[in-house]
Amino acid sequence: MRIPFLTTTKQPEESIDISGENIPYHIAIIMDGNGRWAQKRGMPRMAGHKEGISTVVKIVKAAVKCKVKALTLYTFSTENWKRPKPEVDTILKLPKEFLHIYLPELMANDVRIETIGDIEHLPAHTRKAVEYAVERTRDNNGLRLNFALNYGGRQEILNAMKKLYADINEAKLSMDEVDEQTFSKYLYTDGLPDPDLLIRTGGEKRLSNYLPWQLAYTEFWFTAVLWPDFSEKEFIQALEEYGQRKRRYGGL
Ligand code: FPP
Repeated sequence: MRIPFLTTTKQPEESIDISGENIPYHIAIIMDGNGRWAQKRGMPRMAGHKEGISTVVKIVKAAVKCKVKALTLYTFSTENWKRPKPEVDTILKLPKEFLHIYLPELMANDVRIETIGDIEHLPAHTRKAVEYAVERTRDNNGLRLNFALNYGGRQEILNAMKKLYADINEAKLSMDEVDEQTFSKYLYTDGLPDPDLLIRTGGEKRLSNYLPWQLAYTEFWFTAVLWPDFSEKEFIQALEEYGQRKRRYGGL
């Protein structure tokens, strides 16, 4: 399976004009519906996850063309370990498969790979593949493509609190210095602006422990389209609707 993707030269992608000026800087996506997509076709759920890679490719390409600066994809949650082992094993092989095929093209398009989550406790083959890609792309200045892997929002906040407490205990920080900005530095997303737009495919309207701190003021966009069927068309629709929204952050 090789999908035509980004150009392999340094030629910029043709850009897409989104109506309105407001392109979200950072988009977070919950890629839901792979299992149902496969089951509807009489295929094992795993086939849906594999097909999900094709959509990742299409949406990364669309994000590059729309000049989105950061894209965070919910790839594997801390709760996903509860799934049958063969399904877990399949999902955790996908980052390596994706990077094996597409890393050269991601490099050519200046995409920088990043991760959030408990990478340490992933299988070695997954961890090594993403660590290699992070290292290889670290000087790229284009789209920040951030994979949430073994990520859980509550766990992230608890870990942040423990690290912050340790720093206070060691007098590296005083309680008076702890504000939202300081606390954010202890999260996996340190240095990454909060998402402007959350997209969830697959029809469910919940957060599923995804970026609960970071999504406090994010605009949400839901679609019933299952992730493997999600395309550039719906992605652009989400961006255009985002462009019409008035963000007030609690003000008037
Ligand atoms: C949720 O759908 C999806 C996942 C838990 C896995 C998401 C992974 C991918 C889309 C592929 C990742 C690709 C790369 C490049 C790393 P679900 O299984 O819960 O679907 P369902 O609600 O229909 O059961």
